Amino acid sequence: MTNLPLDAFTAELQRLHAEAGQVLTAVADDTALELARVTFLGAKSGRIRQVQKGLGQVAKEDKPAAGRQFNAVKTAVEELFADAQQRIDAGASPGAVEAVDVSLPGTPLRLGRVHPLTQTIRRVAAIMGYLGFEVVEGPEVEDQWHNFEALAIPAEHPARDPLDNFYISVAQAAEPLLLRSQTSTVQIRVMEQREPPLRIVSLGRVYRPDTADATHYPMFHQVEGLLIEPGTTMAHLKSVLRSFASSFLGGDVHVRFRPSFFPFTEPSVEVDMEWNGRWIEMGGAGMVDPAVLEAVGYDPDVVSGFAFGLGVERIAARRFGVADIRDFYRNDVRFLEQFSDRGQV
Ligand code: PHE
Repeated sequence: MTNLPLDAFTAELQRLHAEAGQVLTAVADDTALELARVTFLGAKSGRIRQVQKGLGQVAKEDKPAAGRQFNAVKTAVEELFADAQQRIDAGASPGAVEAVDVSLPGTPLRLGRVHPLTQTIRRVAAIMGYLGFEVVEGPEVEDQWHNFEALAIPAEHPARDPLDNFYISVAQAAEPLLLRSQTSTVQIRVMEQREPPLRIVSLGRVYRPDTADATHYPMFHQVEGLLIEPGTTMAHLKSVLRSFASSFLGGDVHVRFRPSFFPFTEPSVEVDMEWNGRWIEMGGAGMVDPAVLEAVGYDPDVVSGFAFGLGVERIAARRFGVADIRDFYRNDVRFLEQFSDRGQV
């Protein structure tokens, strides 16, 4: 029986080759591979076997050509099969595209959190905001006027000693600058710019060449408050500090004033806070000295106000129960990750 033209046989072979190529490059697992093997290479009724049967129907003179074509396609399909098997054994996905199984459980992301000192700064700023204080900022590199002179700290004052400050060398004849040793500098900067009434709070870094220990560090943070309003008294100062402390630490916090001295406040006090039965020194405060008001161009006979400066590290240590402030700067994740910032601003 010779009724199959060579063209038709060739076309049939090409179809087989194309289909096998499509299927075998896409199979992704052993089951699909086995199915493809039976479909194409199956000994009894696989597609190759079927096409081979057609070979007998090709005219005698076309047989050698048809046979060569058949063998070439058979080899090609066997190679496609071997490639697919190798790919599946190696565990790779078909083609170049990675399969994504959206139902697989996710890998937990390691979430960072806000540093406990930053958390503290933000909370203090928020609470002072409720009390009507606006947050302002000042530079960390200061001139002598804002860090000392305007704050009634004259040239001969021991607070200006080079051993107690980080002076910065500048061009010859220029006045030495320094890393600010207190945030009281910001009081001056704001009063120079604005007219009373004022309620401002400034939170930031200050620098002093202290030896690091459990309660000291050459860089630390302060929160400075300044209120300038007619009729201000020490009683207002105490109630603002008490409201702040109660909001921050929670519950009933007692505030105690001890007489002290700062060149820029008169009278001056040390501020202690009692919480859970323990008194802690938090900073200094007082009524703004008339000399300071004059330095910024205010009339001390008309204007009065109070100022305070508290240590952020002390507030944070008290709140979080931290015994050594150096832990705040070690950047040890095991320490830092204990302070949840959930629900924080
Ligand atoms: N600047 C003072 C200090 O660093 C604290 C202070 C601020 C005292 C404001 C009085 C008023 O110690």
